[in-house]
Amino acid sequence: MAKLKVGILISGRGSNMAALIRAAASPGYPAEIACVISNVADAPGLPIAAGAGIATAVISHKDHPDRESFDRAVSAIFEEHGVELVALAGFLRILSRWFPGRWAGRLVNIHPSLLPAFKGLHAAQQALAAGVRVSGCTVHLVTPDLDAGPIIAQAAVPVLPDDTEETLSARILRQEHRLYPLVVRWFAEGRVAATGRGVTVKGIPSGGTLLFSPEP
Ligand code: GAR
Repeated sequence: MAKLKVGILISGRGSNMAALIRAAASPGYPAEIACVISNVADAPGLPIAAGAGIATAVISHKDHPDRESFDRAVSAIFEEHGVELVALAGFLRILSRWFPGRWAGRLVNIHPSLLPAFKGLHAAQQALAAGVRVSGCTVHLVTPDLDAGPIIAQAAVPVLPDDTEETLSARILRQEHRLYPLVVRWFAEGRVAATGRGVTVKGIPSGGTLLFSPEP
């Protein structure tokens, strides 16, 4: 069966992108990474993608008069590569309203908190400041609002008394690297369905929310 073609947008390190590339390299994984686009020319993730033989492109906002024309340029490249699902992976540029409309139901993001808590930057630091005992990560469909949209899946981790932003971020990131490939697999298997109340995943009894066991 043809594999789902995934386009990834990054701005930096690209560890979630790398997790998706690793997953896609394993035989039987039903999606392939067709193209990686960065808005930052020296994003460390770009050589990782290129090294895996994946088409890459840089699109700079400096070459575009407004957000929508930038977003249309991104879309055009994804279309050239036959992309069917777009995954934001540490993409730190705010999208125009046009982009989520163009990719409605086929645009996902990963965020390092249990949304709707702690949107925006420094989510782990926000969690520490709030004193929560559990945090985690969320994969959701993207709507025009920042870090918003129907939740597809979440993974939870404990917040430990001596955590710093670095240690909590690292614990969450390990779960991100499990969760994102899983959700992309669900899309490729045609199991993700938008309902009136959000998203359900066929075959997952809880409807799509996963709570991983706390690490020792
Ligand atoms: C990840 O933790 C991702 O969840 C977060 O940026 C990091 C990117 O790391 N995204 C957001 O905060 C989106 N609001 P990566 O480049 O190594 O994947």
